[in-house]
Parts: sequence; C-alpha cells; structure tokens
Amino acid sequence: TAEDGHGLWLRYTPISQEAVLTEYLQTVDHFEVHTSSETGLLIHEELTNGLTSMYQQELVATEGLEHSLQVCKTDHSLVKGLGIDAGIKEQIGAEGFLLRSVQREGKSFLLLTANTDIGLYYGTFHLLRLIQTEQSLVGLDVVEYPRIETRMLNHWDNLDRSSERGYAGFAIWDWHRLPDYLDPIYAEYARANASIGINAMVPVNVNSNALILTPMYLEKVKALADLLRPYGIKMYLTARFSAPSEIGGLATSDPLDPGVAAWWADKAKEIYSYVPDFGGFLVKANSEGQPGPHDYHRNHAEGANMLAKALAPHGGQVIWRAFVYSEENPVDRHMQANDQFVPLDGQFDDNVSIQVKNGAIDFQPREPFHPLFSAMKETRLAMEFQITQEYLGQATQLVYLGTYYEECLDAQIGIKKATVSEVIEGQSNEQEHSVIAGVANIGTDRNWTGHLFGQSNWYAFGRLAWNPDLGADAIADEWIAMAFDHDPQVHATIKDIMMHSREAAVNYMTPLGLHHLMATGHHYGPGPWVSELGRPEWNPVYYHRADSFGIGFDRTAKGSGAVLQYQKSIAKKFGNLKSCPEEYLLWFHHVSWDYEMQSGRTLWDEMGLHYQSGVDEVRRFASQWESLEGKVDARRFEEVQMLLTIHEKEAVWWKDASLLYFQTISNRPFPAEIETPK
Ligand code: GCU
Repeated sequence: TAEDGHGLWLRYTPISQEAVLTEYLQTVDHFEVHTSSETGLLIHEELTNGLTSMYQQELVATEGLEHSLQVCKTDHSLVKGLGIDAGIKEQIGAEGFLLRSVQREGKSFLLLTANTDIGLYYGTFHLLRLIQTEQSLVGLDVVEYPRIETRMLNHWDNLDRSSERGYAGFAIWDWHRLPDYLDPIYAEYARANASIGINAMVPVNVNSNALILTPMYLEKVKALADLLRPYGIKMYLTARFSAPSEIGGLATSDPLDPGVAAWWADKAKEIYSYVPDFGGFLVKANSEGQPGPHDYHRNHAEGANMLAKALAPHGGQVIWRAFVYSEENPVDRHMQANDQFVPLDGQFDDNVSIQVKNGAIDFQPREPFHPLFSAMKETRLAMEFQITQEYLGQATQLVYLGTYYEECLDAQIGIKKATVSEVIEGQSNEQEHSVIAGVANIGTDRNWTGHLFGQSNWYAFGRLAWNPDLGADAIADEWIAMAFDHDPQVHATIKDIMMHSREAAVNYMTPLGLHHLMATGHHYGPGPWVSELGRPEWNPVYYHRADSFGIGFDRTAKGSGAVLQYQKSIAKKFGNLKSCPEEYLLWFHHVSWDYEMQSGRTLWDEMGLHYQSGVDEVRRFASQWESLEGKVDARRFEEVQMLLTIHEKEAVWWKDASLLYFQTISNRPFPAEIETPK
C-alpha cells in the first residue's frame, strides 16, 4: 500500500522480532470486550485491526481467560472477583484506566478496566501503543488518568474552509455538505485524537463570525457532535461577542443589558437542545479588532461572567482568551494581558477559564512563559499552545515542538517550586475544570499536516495534554516507533533531528531572545527591517530596537518594566543582565553590540554564530535524512527530503537577510567563522 502518511502514528506495523512476538502471543492472543456501546464497538475494531496487523496473523478464536485481554468496566463481575482497590477506581476517574496482568483460577490474562467506556478506549490505545513501541507486557500494572480535564484542539478554520494560519490544505470541516454528508475523515480525525486523549474541540476560528450560532449551522454542529461523541470528544463553539446584535437583531451586545443576557441564555438553551453535552464557548474579545465588553465600557469579567451564567444551568464552560492588546495603549504589548486581567483576579465565575498563550507576545520560536501564569491566583488559567507552525517555518520546515511545549510547561513560575504545568493542572491553586488547548495543524492534505513531522507536533501536544510530565524525549521515541518501521538506525537518526530541530529554528530565525521579526502579515520568512505598518507593535523594529549602540527590548524597570510582572525571583533573574539566561537576553535587555557574552565573544559575533549554527544544523538534518534512503518508505522519504531542501534554503535566507540588515545598524564586520551572508 502507498505510504502517504495518512495513517499517522496508527500504522500498526508488524512486530520486528520473533522473540517479542512470541512474548506477546503468550500474553494476549485473543481478547473479549464486555461492553456493547458504540465506544465498545470502536474498541473491538481497534483491537482487531491493531493486533492482527502487528502480529501478522489472525487472533486465536477460542474464548476463555488464559492468554486473553479482558476489557470491561469496573462494575463488571469479572473485576469484582479480582479485588481491585477502591482507591484505584477513584483515582482513574472518568477517563483513566487500569491495565494489569492478573491470575485467576490458575489462568493468567490481561485486564483492562475503567469506570467508563471512554476510559476503556484510552486504555486500548495505551496497550496498542505498548505493543507498537515493543514494550514488554509481562507483569503489567499501569494506572493512568489524564492530569488535565479538557484537552482540546482549537481549529482556526473558517466556514468557507479557509484556515487562518493553516498550512495543510483546507479545513476538513465541510459545512456545505453537513449535516447529511459525514465525510469519513471526521471519524478518522476522531479516532486519531482519541488515541492521544484529546477530548474536546472547537471547529471554528477564534476570529469567526456569528453564523455558527444560527440554527442552520447548529444542525450541522449537532451532526458533528453526534459523530464525535463515541470517541469521547466534546464540541465547543466560538462565541462572537457581538452576536446578539449581529444575528439576534438586538440594538446592543452590552453584557450588562438584561436583554442581551436573556438572548445568550436562550441561545445556550437552544444549543443544548441540539448538543446535550455541549462544552461551552471559546471567546476572543477586544483583541485585534474583535468585539468585546470594552465596546460598552465593561471589563472582561463582566463579559465572561454574563456568558458563563448562560451556560451554567447546562454545565457549560466559558474559555475566555487572554490574548489581548490594543493600539490605543502605548504600553509594551508584552504587558497588556496582565494589565487587563490581573485586576480582575477572583472576579470570574466558577465556569470561566482564562486561556493564556504560552508567552506574552505570540507563539514566537522562543518566549519566556507568560507572566499571567504566576499572577492570577484566584482564577482558573488554561494553556494555549500553537501546534500549527505560524512562526516556526509553517509547513516547509521540520520543527518538533515537543521540546517547545516542555520548556514552557516545566518553567518555574517563582512561587515555591511551582511550574506552569502545575498552574494549568490546578495543583498549586485548587483548580478543577483545567484546560489545555492547541491551535490545530490539521487540514485536507493527504498526510493531515502538510509536513510529515507536523504529525509529531499534533501527537506531542496530545500526549503532553494527557500528562505534562511525559517529556518531549520520551514522546519523540513513541512517535518514531509508531510512525516508522522498527529500525534502530532510522529511529536514532530521526530522533536526533527532531530533538535539535526547534533550537535550530530559534537560531536561524530569532536567536538570543530576538522575537517577532517575521515578514508582515503572513509571518513567513524574515522581515526585521519592516517599520512602516500603521500600528507600532506590528513592526519588527518595535521588537528588536537595534540602534548604533546595540539591540534588544529593554523590559527592565528602566525600560518598559514588563519584567516586573513576573514574581520577584523571576523578575530579578530575567531583569538582571548578568543572570538573565542568554536565550532571553534580547527579550529583556537592550544590549551593546560589544557586550561580552559567556563565550567571551561580543554580542554581535555571538549573534552571527547563532545564525550560522542554525543553518549548519539544518544542513546536518538534510544529510542525516539522506542516510535513511531505502530505510524509510520511498514516498515519505522523498517528501521529507524535498522539504529539507526548502528548509535549508529558508534557513540561509533567514540568516543572510537578518545579518545583512542588522549589519547596516551595527556597522561591524561579520565574525570570521561564519559564511559571509549574500
Ligand atoms: C496571532 C495570529 C492571528 C490570530 C491571533 C490570535 O496574532 O497571527 O492570526 O488571530 O494570533 O491568537 O487571536
């Protein structure tokens, strides 16, 4: 069959070693699923396909416990006899599972049990993953449950199937043919997401119009929601704040107007009549021209709470984005979210989460964690990552984002030893209803994500959403083992490329804390010289601030003061030139071209070397990939090979354009060690 990448990480390639297969057959040579729900049928299908494909043989037809996998809920009689601890049932909750090797009446078998069908489905994928990655099944005792309640994809897809910041073809949601035509890709999408534990989605762009809330579209939404339900995926919708006036015929959308509140309450009721388990609203308000409560001199809490009250009777949630900045406000854009939201801490209703991007600017190749994560102790904070690579080479560059996500999740926020992931999970301040969102990179491209390695980012997001402590390294291992055949050299080579790819991108695009230097609008390629756009904070020169003295954005107390939005210990570390990690140097400091770096080189020379090393790394990736010819199936091999050729050109483009431009300001010669920019 053609290896076009459509099978994602669910290829179920044959077990590579006879001995491993023998062990598996002695552990699980058949299975029984004791649940007849729709999800139960999916489990049955997945196990049949997965096991026969990996074992390369039909499963044993006999019934009975010996060498079987028994899939049943915790209230099943089979489980009752096994004395499973009540504590475990509580721990695994609504989505977790227990996978345990057990003995009964002298027979040994594998038990997969959960409180719900969805838990069983997730456990099924876990077991299949163990086999896909050729782990031992002997003596298994796995207790798994998600650490974050809502693990969601945000599609920035428009109703006309165009996709904002999408680089993999068109949106997969075919609104025109819904509700009657259910494209088979929807079920494939749902299964892929379930395999990594994603349990929520918003099918429309945060900048979407209000049409999605009208009955014509709600019928389509219902059809999708019905399809996604057995896979454990809940639908949310974007709510355009001005909907009452736009589609409701009201004179205002003022959140404190009783008529407006009543309109939203009715709208919520109507939506729940179509989708009884509807998740809630995602809102982009008063940001980049979107309507919001400020239009009526109300604050974010007044806006969010009004929607929250409409959803509360039905159990719905408001996810209100913190990505706000306004042109009227001359303050450093970095500071605006904190300025607007921190004074509202404690004022949001229980069913409101504030969804914060990982950094304060905008999904840059590297950003320090967003200061809001340590500044709102009485508010439920959600994480927003970007999976689509808007600022990271889009679909022509190979950039594994597992390391990117991990860097942010593991960052210490300066309150005791707490990390960003703990804030999201709610351990440090008692949050339930935790949320993590990823802006999806999925489209109609045959391989879903445009670049084959975009799949690894979708995968990594899902796995980290399930357990933020899994680690980018381990996740890369899983993905490679599942997406490619079992060849140690292939595995090691691909892993080496992936694990270095993000740092390479930082180096050839925006090293040492530089940021937002991408070309205007599309954000593809370099544009550090752009200075003429209408709004200051849209111009790259606003961010790098290069002048005859040096380069970088002074965000210390002497500058914009943004660093003071972090907790004291962090502010001290980032705010002091000597203790600021060099990777964030120009993010927080305006530094002389001749400043002596840790390496002993001047800043200017160091910058040149970073750009060069980014290029060198991409060249290395390309030649490493060449060594896999004949070892990776031809089609995927050639696709990635061609993309790496583009990637290399683009890395050189970034380096040359950036350095030539900065040289016009620094007036210094390039360091001898680098290839002279042309
Ligand atoms: C970025 C992106 C926009 C998007 C915005 C947002 O600015 O370029 O396309 O709408 O983020 O997150 O709302």
